[in-house]
Amino acid sequence: MKHDVVVIGSLNYDILVQQDRLPKTGETFTGNELMLMPGGKGANQAVQCAKLGLNVNMVGCVGNDIYGNDLIKSLDENNVSVACVRQRGKTSGIGIVQILESGDYCSTIIKGANYLITCEDISADLFIDQPLVILQSEIPDSVVENAIMLASRYGCRIMLNNAPARAISTEALSRIDYLVVNETEAGFMNGSSVATIQEALVCARQLHQQVRGQVIITLGEKGAVLSREEEADHYPAVFCPDVVDTTGAGDSFIGGIAYCIVKGIPLKEAIPFAAEISSNSIQKYGGQSSFPMLPDVAHALTLNQQRLFG
Ligand code: RIB
Repeated sequence: MKHDVVVIGSLNYDILVQQDRLPKTGETFTGNELMLMPGGKGANQAVQCAKLGLNVNMVGCVGNDIYGNDLIKSLDENNVSVACVRQRGKTSGIGIVQILESGDYCSTIIKGANYLITCEDISADLFIDQPLVILQSEIPDSVVENAIMLASRYGCRIMLNNAPARAISTEALSRIDYLVVNETEAGFMNGSSVATIQEALVCARQLHQQVRGQVIITLGEKGAVLSREEEADHYPAVFCPDVVDTTGAGDSFIGGIAYCIVKGIPLKEAIPFAAEISSNSIQKYGGQSSFPMLPDVAHALTLNQQRLFG
């Protein structure tokens, strides 16, 4: 069956704790609120794509536990195809997310069933006549690399969100059409500091030489940079006065970029649209449940299309 997007990646059940600050070593600290929600970078990106109206196929593994059932249910309720989501092993992936007063977060991931997906699960038919595959780095490296090589062989465009950052082979990197990373991941991949917009522009140009397509580095409240063809440009963030929780903001940004790729909108137009989407998502707690639908952000797309075609 033809889909707009195939997402091969993680599904985590997120345990979110809202707390004023992180505890010190040896300190017992009181949190303010506990929330349990479906998450995982792969599932989050799949849900944001589907909420924008794309036809999405999710490939991944959850455990044979109540979390696994809930993770599949959440995808299904958001119209993501779950035919390629397997239930294996005892425990699902878990995300332990500490959300601070500023809306920033720290997270620890328990791998669980995300690491039970194998190269044998990644078959050619996932990519034949499919326009776009999105991968992250919360599943085994061998599966990511294998998927990149196979997708490339069948002409499926490849977006890699190398999060959390891992070493990727030169061969696999050279087949990436869209590399999307944050400043920490970009710094890891390039072996350089990415603390300023200027450093991000330089880093994006250098990473650009290693991939066959374009590079986006997201910079949180500093916006994003895009390296394409002969130039690299900076795009400001959308101002958001009411930041509640930035968990999944990067995933919702990626959903917005994927939507534009599928619709044939170039990345320089896609970035302001995706920034609008992630800015909308950080005004509520959680990942998938906080992501906007297309009508919530359609005005941003209209503006972009006017610029594109007007
Ligand atoms: O990007 C946010 C996600 O990262 C969370 O949902 C958590 O599960 C981790 O995968």
